[in-house]
Amino acid sequence: MPRGIFVSFEGSEGCGKSTQIRLLAERLKSAGREVLLTREPGGTEIGEQLRHLLQFSKAGHTMTPETELLLFTASRAQLVREVIVPALTAGTIVLADRFLDSTTVYQGVARKLDPAEVAAINRFAVGGTLPDITFVLDLDPTIARERMRHRAAPAGAPDRMESQPAAFFDAVRAGYLALARDNADRVRLLDAAISVENLSARIWQELAPRLTP
Ligand code: TMP
Repeated sequence: MPRGIFVSFEGSEGCGKSTQIRLLAERLKSAGREVLLTREPGGTEIGEQLRHLLQFSKAGHTMTPETELLLFTASRAQLVREVIVPALTAGTIVLADRFLDSTTVYQGVARKLDPAEVAAINRFAVGGTLPDITFVLDLDPTIARERMRHRAAPAGAPDRMESQPAAFFDAVRAGYLALARDNADRVRLLDAAISVENLSARIWQELAPRLTP
């Protein structure tokens, strides 16, 4: 059984990741492929508790950047071993809504933790499991914030991460652009301001040649 393909999606809140993941999953499933979706933080029982702590719990208000880094990577360490590696071994295509690049960018760039230390902790947490291809959906933070405002309205107040100031999201965008530049072999930078259909077609164009018949 050939190993499955590990695809991760990255980008700021409001960039359209979830829509693109849903469309890609539908397309792969209609082509007869086994697909698994993951999201971070979360995806395991431990990870969902960490997600609550990281995003919604009152206890999160006093969280230091160092604690935040360790909790995001703890959630990922569990997800990799409990879910992602077994799925890839079984030949499943894994579509991850965020993976280690989120930590590189959010904690290593936007939170200004030491990038070398973040990289070391990231490496330890994933234990060698890396995406085969990563799509970064790039969007102007002003447009992304507009999209988020529309999305947050029915669900209530934005979560702890979404409540960060504008400068934080400018740093996130710059971090993703640098990531794409420095990892050109793995990371594809896509303009997320184009239509949902065109973006989905661009993603398919990149992925289709990697699918074994
Ligand atoms: P999302 O469910 O909308 O993708 O939100 C997850 C939030 O957590 C988002 O603000 C990005 C943030 N995050 C980090 O800061 N570091 C990480 O390692 C991960 C996975 C997410």
